[in-house]
Amino acid sequence: MNTVILFVLFFTRHVLTLPEQVHLAFYTSPWDISVSWITFENAEPSLTYGTSSKSMLNVTGTTNTWIFGGITRHSHVVILKNLNPSTQYYYQIDSRKFNFRTLPTDLTSYKVCVFGDLGVYNGRSTQSIIHNGIAGKFGFIVHIGDLAYDLHSNNGKLGDQYMNLLEPVISKIPYMVIAGNHENDNANFTNFKNRFVMPPTGSDDNQFYSIDIGPVHSVGLSTEYYGFEEQYGNASIFTQFDWLTKNLNEANKNRESVPWIVMYQHRPFYCSVEDGDDCTLYENVVLRHGAFGIPGLEQEYIKNSVDIGFAGHMHAYERMWPVADMKYYKGSEAYHNPVAPVYFLTGSAGCHSSGMKFSPIPMPWSAHRSDDYGYTVMTVANTTHIHFEQISIDKNGDVIDSIWISKDLGHFHTNKMRENANGKMFY
Ligand SMILES: [Fe+2]
Repeated sequence: MNTVILFVLFFTRHVLTLPEQVHLAFYTSPWDISVSWITFENAEPSLTYGTSSKSMLNVTGTTNTWIFGGITRHSHVVILKNLNPSTQYYYQIDSRKFNFRTLPTDLTSYKVCVFGDLGVYNGRSTQSIIHNGIAGKFGFIVHIGDLAYDLHSNNGKLGDQYMNLLEPVISKIPYMVIAGNHENDNANFTNFKNRFVMPPTGSDDNQFYSIDIGPVHSVGLSTEYYGFEEQYGNASIFTQFDWLTKNLNEANKNRESVPWIVMYQHRPFYCSVEDGDDCTLYENVVLRHGAFGIPGLEQEYIKNSVDIGFAGHMHAYERMWPVADMKYYKGSEAYHNPVAPVYFLTGSAGCHSSGMKFSPIPMPWSAHRSDDYGYTVMTVANTTHIHFEQISIDKNGDVIDSIWISKDLGHFHTNKMRENANGKMFY
């Protein structure tokens, strides 16, 4: 009898210390990668890794123990530093084995999968993202908010389920995340903070950060500071804004070697869906334009010559013409040396509720829109060209929209350019 009880205790403890929800993310550069996982009993935050399964190094990281909904979770992270480019790495946590391949040396022609709004239920794009990610069709993922629907549901068990569902792909390629409104767990984004390790270059809770990957300076921001200002106050809006102005200022000094700036955020500045309150009413106006002493974000994008902006939140795909302060610049040449930021709405990965309807007439800055489920693949070709493709799940993975954005080296859009464009393009 005692042997049976001992066995059951041993087995239960073993299951609770077994790593799950294993995922990767870029840390401070493409060559420093964090490996994160969760256990339900405390365990050593260590793994072995190497370029061959026969010569593995042991590395120890840190553990962050947190309680949500009465459940104790142990989030472990190990940072793998100074990895070599174009190299296959193997890693093992406890008895579980994984592998990944680093990005190529010159960091050109890499592909990024971008989408928002993907849940466990009705996660229409999930299998395609897993399949194509494992097949190497893109080098990493950026999920621009609204994860799992929700990470915190059922005391966080839905979040556990979601992370385990995606584990086959996110243990193999980095999974970068941005907070959406569904990450508000009424505990100041506790689940979002404790389940992920984003680059430590901005806030210490994954809400805003930047990282350079080849010719692209990527910036992730929280629009939820604006959305939940009433609940959490406005201090974080100012902290993020101060950081952003400095960050973009520094990025501009480095524009010769890193010419592109790409922004990732959850709520869009522009969209034309039927229930488009978030694109037209109070919250959007404050977010985009600012009001009552609260600084809006769009002017920073305009004056710092931001090239591209991704957002989700609306469950559709929409590509905009270059647009600044609601003035748009369209025409066959609009995407070469754009005179304003170009925004993509890509929130159609698979929300728990059904799709969203478009407004009968698109907003004038709308260049292409689709309500198919799907996600975007951005190909960073080089310092002058970036390609975008919209993958439709409804149409078996077909590309339903594609566009090149190109610019000459040194192109920096300015008010003067926008004034000159007035009249030449429809405005
Ligand atoms: Fe949302």
